[in-house]
Amino acid sequence: MRSCSLPVAAAAGKNITTIEGLKSKAAQAVQKAWVELDVVQCGYCQSGQIMSAVALLEHNSKPSDADIDGAMAGNICRCATYQRIRAAIHAASADLGA
Ligand code: FES
Repeated sequence: MRSCSLPVAAAAGKNITTIEGLKSKAAQAVQKAWVELDVVQCGYCQSGQIMSAVALLEHNSKPSDADIDGAMAGNICRCATYQRIRAAIHAASADLGA
């Protein structure tokens, strides 16, 4: 869920994981790929991009370009890093052995 579009009352009683709490193998693969492919430009959007990428890979370890576009829709990057984000998700997928 994007915290910017979720009323806080809707999170009452729910488990919440922020980017600081990511620990899964998918999260580690995404972090590694983000660094290796130098995805970040200004960084403003990147917490949301990474959270969405990890959520995608935790449910679909070998996403297609269409899967990636669908999962990442709604995460706007004013620096237009979309091609690097897609490449990094594919790299993370490969790193996960998919
Ligand atoms: Fe600048 Fe996405 S890296 S808005």
